[in-house]
Amino acid sequence: MKIGIIGLGYVGLPLAVAFAESGNDVIALDADKRKVESLARGESYIEDIPDSDLAPLGERLTPTTRYADLASCNAVIICVPTPLTGSREPDLTYLIDSGAELAKVLQPNQLVVLESTTYPGTTRERLAPILAESGLSAGTDFHLAFSPERIDPGRTDYTVRTTPKLVGGLTEECSKRAEELYALICEQVIVLSGPEAAELSKLLENIFRSVNIAFVNELAQLCDRLEIDVWEVIDAASTKPFGFMRFEPGPGMGGHCLPIDPFYLAFKAREHDFYPEFIELAGKVNQAQPAYCAERIERALNDLGKPVKGSNVLILGVSYKAGVGDMRESPALKIAELLRERGGEVCYHDPHVAELPQFGLRSVDLDAALETADVAAIVTAHPGVDYGAVAEAVPALIDFRGVTREIDAANLIRL
Ligand SMILES: NC(=O)c1ccc[n+]([C@@H]2O[C@H](COP(=O)([O-])OP(=O)(O)OC[C@H]3O[C@@H](n4cnc5c(N)ncnc54)[C@H](O)[C@@H]3O)[C@@H](O)[C@H]2O)c1
Repeated sequence: MKIGIIGLGYVGLPLAVAFAESGNDVIALDADKRKVESLARGESYIEDIPDSDLAPLGERLTPTTRYADLASCNAVIICVPTPLTGSREPDLTYLIDSGAELAKVLQPNQLVVLESTTYPGTTRERLAPILAESGLSAGTDFHLAFSPERIDPGRTDYTVRTTPKLVGGLTEECSKRAEELYALICEQVIVLSGPEAAELSKLLENIFRSVNIAFVNELAQLCDRLEIDVWEVIDAASTKPFGFMRFEPGPGMGGHCLPIDPFYLAFKAREHDFYPEFIELAGKVNQAQPAYCAERIERALNDLGKPVKGSNVLILGVSYKAGVGDMRESPALKIAELLRERGGEVCYHDPHVAELPQFGLRSVDLDAALETADVAAIVTAHPGVDYGAVAEAVPALIDFRGVTREIDAANLIRL
């Protein structure tokens, strides 16, 4: 088959590679010329896709910025961003723009699949009318479906191939075509009643995580007051073989999904005079977590007899999760901002993030930074750091990730 992918980011590029690896021809389209040029040189910009994965694909993967190149595809998959506006409402600009460009080249009998996370109704109510500007009708002249992406950057135990894929088409034939498409690269494809169920399934998965993370974040704050080790409690509860699922507290939620997607559903709910309280409450608790962590750093400095102002604070790990360099919505940014506002001298060490231009900072050498730090805070625990040695080198080490549980040191403070 010949498959077009629109949007070659964390979702689109691995998908393009998976289809090409399975022997299909892939037209890989992005509006960002630099990404397309990079791929044309055989250079990947996504950590999960090494250059060595691109090399064997040869001409099976054709990077382009031209929508006209999609006209020859059997299927086109849209993987553009779906962020929030400044007032935390869905921003469908990228989807509308890419849909409008695709409509200009859409062909009869093509299959179009939306993978971007969005609220239920988007595929039918927003995308179908835009594509209909082609003069072709969704469900009759061309096929249209939604299939949520479930990629987890950095994860290796589940891949695109082994993670079950949900699809929901506008019609039975749309679903069938989508099922056939994903069967090329996925071991299991599950067909739902329509795009709405598929759109909402993705939001349920993400909101489930957001709500449970908020719950343990709140529990961590309570444990701080009760002087009970939250990690010991979570470990203990996790021994129950049924009816409990482990979630861990942390410095706050980051990434493109969890801090954003729940508000897509909250928006849709409000359109129906419904106010989903779990979503809003979880968002509120999770958004407040970086401020709580900044306060814990402040307290640690206070115990050392130092104010935040003028103290050297070393942040260990600034990306939103371990093992990747993705900075989107990272809580480290908020923590750094709050400490700086109070006059703290903030620096950071992160092997995955060379610079933070918004702070005018570059990742510092760990050994050198430890010599001058008044306090170090583990915000994201990238593998390969010797936290025992860090604890020995600084007056106070604060662990927001629970990775120092094996270390016994008087200057160690855990969330
Ligand atoms: N990153 C994840 O872990 C993840 C997981 C599941 C679902 N999702 C969802 O998948 C979607 C994409 O996320 P992502 O992380 O890959 O985003 P991304 O920002 O990494 O990639 C999106 C790409 O789309 C391109 N683009 C934007 N507008 C375009 C246009 N009009 N035409 C062509 N290309 C365009 C951008 O240049 C960018 O390269 C989002 O809806 C997101 O919520 C992301």
